Amino acid sequence: MSKKDKIILAIESSCDETAAAILKGNLHTSKPKFRVLSSVIKSQITIHQKTGGVVPEVAARAHIQNILPVTKKALSDARANLADLDYIAVTAGPGLVVSLIVGVEFAKGLSLATGIPLVPTNHMAGHLYSAFASAPEKVKFPVLSIVVSGGHTMLILMKDYHHFTVIGETVDDAAGEAFDKVARLLTEENYRGGPQVSKLAERGKTDLKFTRPMLHAKNFNFSFSGLKTAVLYYMDKLPKPVSTQQKADIAMSFERAVADVLVTKALRAAKKYGCKTVSLSGGVAANRHLRQTLTIACKAEKLNLNIPELELCTDNAQMIAIAAYFKLRGGFKPVGPAKVKANPHWELRAS
Ligand code: KG4
Ligand code: ZN
Repeated sequence: MSKKDKIILAIESSCDETAAAILKGNLHTSKPKFRVLSSVIKSQITIHQKTGGVVPEVAARAHIQNILPVTKKALSDARANLADLDYIAVTAGPGLVVSLIVGVEFAKGLSLATGIPLVPTNHMAGHLYSAFASAPEKVKFPVLSIVVSGGHTMLILMKDYHHFTVIGETVDDAAGEAFDKVARLLTEENYRGGPQVSKLAERGKTDLKFTRPMLHAKNFNFSFSGLKTAVLYYMDKLPKPVSTQQKADIAMSFERAVADVLVTKALRAAKKYGCKTVSLSGGVAANRHLRQTLTIACKAEKLNLNIPELELCTDNAQMIAIAAYFKLRGGFKPVGPAKVKANPHWELRAS
């Protein structure tokens, strides 16, 4: 890469993963050009599984313990020193405030000590841009982006890398939240059980044809709380004990309903706005059935499809580095520590 390459350290601590990554990229090439040199994640999932949810103080304490070793490892994996860095990107929101504060204050401390400026970055922008981690120069716009995480479900229309609008959102539960709640009903997993629902669904045989909430609504919003209730009512009516096969059928039917609504509405939006590409990202993008359904639908409609590698779907700092890279390319002027504050309700709306 050219001499003009810049090096970004990214720090992510918005929920239950402490992560750091290093990206090297050119901010001035006509097409985006970057390489992720390292990415380190220290997960807290096993800690929070014990309590069936995040106890904020426990999460914050684990972030405090992990943030320095994780950052050091990201630097050493990239064979970089602090002196090599041009920018420090940090997730400033949305997220759990006490978790965010750890990353933000750590980044501010580093910035104060070294003079390296900061790029406060939105966590959902991270998920959005994670879909463009490989071959970003080849992406054909407009892009219709589906971002599905534990806290958000969004359809985003991207005119280019720097201009986007959120055109649809969930009116109640996020897709990941619905997976997690259904996991509590069907599996032993009481925290972030989406992958377990997905695993159980693989053994499903009968489609119970659960409701497809808001499928026919004229807007691009979603609702997943009714679907979770449909699962609950269905379970309640079954004679006990509910067999593993019955649970697998429920999991499969639930997963199909979620994928059906997401894919149908996303493709409708893609058609309406003349999109050339669809992208899928966020934790729920790790779901195999959703990936397959979207792949088949995009092929049928001759749409390009960008789905990140599995490791880029759930929370990580690579995606924060990539979002910061695009933010800088878009003209954002990095700031000093006094200008950065954790903002747990930082909404991604438009750019
Ligand atoms: O993006 P993410 O790591 O964190 C947030 O920003 O929320 O998303 C986590 C969500 C959780 O709800 C988790 O259960 C869900 O993504 N998830 C999955 C799968 N892997 C993670 N849901 C369905 N199938 C999966 N394979
Ligand atoms: Zn996330």
